[in-house]
Order: sequence, then structure tokens, then C-alpha cells
Amino acid sequence: TEKENTAIIILGASGDLAFKKTYPALFGLFKNDFLPKSCQIIGYARSEIKLDEFKKRITSKIKVSDEDKAVLERFLEICTYCSGSYDKKESFQNLDKFVTNLEGEDDRKKNRIFYMALPPTVFISASEGLKENVYSKKGDNRLIVEKPFGKDFDSSRVLSRALSKHWKEDEIYRIDHYLGKEMVKNLMMLRFGNVIFGAVWNRYYISNVQITFKEVIGTEGRGGYFNEFGIIRDIMQNHLFQILSIVAMGRPVTLDAEDVRNEKVKVLRSIKPLSIDDVLLGQYTRSADGKNKGYKDDEGVPQDSYTATFAAAVFNIANERWDGVPFILKCGKALDEAKAEDVPGSIYPGLARNELVIRIQPKEAVYMKVMNKEPGLSNAAVISELDLSYTDRYSLSRIPDAYESLILDVLKGEKSNFVRDDELDAAWKIFTPVLHQIEKEKIKPELYEFGSRGPASLSRWIENHGYKRTHGY
Ligand code: BG6
Repeated sequence: TEKENTAIIILGASGDLAFKKTYPALFGLFKNDFLPKSCQIIGYARSEIKLDEFKKRITSKIKVSDEDKAVLERFLEICTYCSGSYDKKESFQNLDKFVTNLEGEDDRKKNRIFYMALPPTVFISASEGLKENVYSKKGDNRLIVEKPFGKDFDSSRVLSRALSKHWKEDEIYRIDHYLGKEMVKNLMMLRFGNVIFGAVWNRYYISNVQITFKEVIGTEGRGGYFNEFGIIRDIMQNHLFQILSIVAMGRPVTLDAEDVRNEKVKVLRSIKPLSIDDVLLGQYTRSADGKNKGYKDDEGVPQDSYTATFAAAVFNIANERWDGVPFILKCGKALDEAKAEDVPGSIYPGLARNELVIRIQPKEAVYMKVMNKEPGLSNAAVISELDLSYTDRYSLSRIPDAYESLILDVLKGEKSNFVRDDELDAAWKIFTPVLHQIEKEKIKPELYEFGSRGPASLSRWIENHGYKRTHGY
């Protein structure tokens, strides 16, 4: 409103995340008129960069058409830069002065949003410095943080406790950017807005659920970071588990953020800690033609690394709705195709299985494989698709990036698409024992070639874990 001013402060403004995601998302919001009327965007980082230079860097990652050039110019007018450290009181006091100066001394409400695009090593000191020195006393304060939230249950708790010493849970927005993706946001609507799905969304009709994330790229220069974390922490424990909990949750009492997240937590709490017997690990090697490097050729990856770049795991949700239905999660880098998909399995026994596919990316789509009579004089059954491909159905010129959607939520104070602390705890409880075991016993991943479908034993592994029908219809 007219009576408010909002300052968005990006910490780690000279880093990758800020350039690749945060600034382009803010530009998208600006262009479509979703940023508050009175708003400043302040970049903050250690390096001393001239404002001009900084703006050049920001624009290098923002794609604009000729007609948008003027909009970009206007966007850059609200962008400024301030340098300082992440652990010195004076630096934060200086930042506070910088922001106050931009906000002006009038009596409008002064909201401040802090976006921590920072490495975990400075998370705690920065969140403390911000609270003590830069916190707005005349408006709302919101702190955006992003994974890694620790490496296991204990380290995540340490981080949570340090954050909650200074910030109220209500002020903390933990990003999992998959929650900002169009199709992930559509999941609840599909499930609870369609009686046809609601009726069969349980163990009596669904034989298995598969959630798949495939990337064609390898770690590409991020090997140093990646080697510390591995694919389970990078993708499965957060992105895939968010999808799993929305697919599996019960109907929330209302769409209110707490009600929605209460249901998600219930799902997570019904899952036992993952056992090593239910996991398949892989690591990519160079491609057959030698054109693509193997994981161990990436900078920062030690030669004896056993970090997994591929993982498949199967989970049981021990509640009335799902007990006995395998939820098979797969994720990997350097595979044959790029795809994120969620297939809540077959809905009806008999002929072929009806498969409902919810494709998150690329090319958002919902389709269901159905049996159809072959048209013509034949009576043969053929598998066809009821198909809701977004590009055919909707005339959207573009679907906003996940970060755009999430930053807009933060501006509105809407929290359903952010991770609550107990959700995070519950997810870590499921993965911590197996992660520790893998590390302690140095369990070797099965090698697969860059650009292949993953470890060779994958299909057999899925057969063994996937289609057990111990109950049902
Ligand atoms: C990030 C992971 O969280 O998600 C990356 O750290 C991964 O390793 C990325 O590449 C995938 O996100 P998207 O939006 O490209 O599917």
C-alpha cells in the first residue's frame, strides 16, 4: 500500500544463486507489477563492487526482449549495492544506515525482507547480525533461507536453534524451490478439487507411486559442494520429499498454511527411517564417447569419492490410506533425459494399468493412460492418453519461475509453500541413519555412464521393490 515501504536485502548478492535466480525472479515480478509500489532492492556481499559493475552482472543473467529494455532500466534504478562482512557488527550497522537512508525518514511502515543467498558457514552469524543491527522496528521483518539446512538431523537442529534464538518461526521462510513450481502448486488442486481422483487416491486403487527427477547435466563445477552432500541431500530429502508429502497428505482442514503443513508433517511422521536395503546408489563416469566428464573429473571431487550422484529409494507410509503402497523415489544427475515427474501409479486393475502422470518439467502436463478400443472395425484395446499438456491447453506466454512465485508469497506473508521447522526435522529423521551408515561404511555406489539411464541394476531393483501387491482390491 501507499503507507508502506519494502526493502528487499539480498545477502550473498555476488553469488551464483542471487544472479541466476533471485535477481531474475525479482525482475519478473517487477515487470509484471508485483513488487510493492515503494520498494528498494539492496545487494549485500563481501566484495567491493562498483554499482555499475554490479548492475552489469545482474543484467547478464536477465533475458530481455527489445521492448523490455526500458523496464529493465527502471528495475535497475531500484537496485543498489552495499558491501560488508557477514560477521562484523559494524558492517551490519553500516548496512542498516544504508537501508534507512533509502527508506527515508517519513512515517510509513518500513518492511524489510532479508534473502540469505549465503553459504551455510555464515548463516548463523549473518542471521544474528541482521536481527541485532538491521531488523526493522517499524514494520514486518522476514528472513528467507535456503538449503542446505544442515547435513543431518543434529546439524539441522543446531541451525534451527541458532535461527530461532533471534527469529520467530513466523518470520522465517525456508525455501524449497520445488514448492514454487507450477505443477507442484497444482497438485493439491488436482487431488482435492476433483472427486474422481479423491475417490481412488488410496491403497485400494493405487499400486505404487513413483517420483522421478532426472537431469542431463552433471555437477559441472559444483563438485566441491556436491561431494559433501550427495544426491540424497541435494534432491531427495527436500525436493522429492516435498512432492511425496503433497501427493500423500490427507485433506487439510483449510488451505491455511498451518493446516496444510500439519497434514504434510503427519505423512512424514508415518514413514520409518530409510533402511540401506531399500536404497540403490549410483555415481556417473565419463560418457562412452569421452565427451562428457565423469563425476570424479569434476573440480573438487576426490578420486576416492563414493558420493552418490544417483539414488533410488522406496518408502512405506504406514497409515490407513497408504500402508503397503511403495513410494519409489529416483533422482540422478548426468542421465539420458531431463525430467521431473510424479506418477501416482495405477488406479484400476485389469487390462493395463491406468497410469496418471503429473509432469513437473519440462513441458508441464497431466495425463492419464487409459484403455481405449482401437478405432475402426477392430475390437483391440489400445493404450491412449487423456492429455492435459499445458502448452496445448493454456495460452500462457510463460510460466513464472518458481522463485518468482515464492518471493511473491514472502511479500504477501503467505507461508504454505515454505518448509516449517517440524517438517524439516521429520524429513531428517527419515534420512539421517542411512546417510550416516553410507558414510561410515563408505558404501560404494554402482557406476553408470554419463548420459545413460542410471545404474544397470535399476530396472531389476524397481521390479523387486515396486509392484509387490500384498493387499487390496
Ligand atoms: C537444486 C540442486 O536444489 O535443484 C541442484 O542443488 C539441482 O543440484 C537443482 O540442479 C534442480 O532444480 P531445477 O529447478 O533446475 O529442477
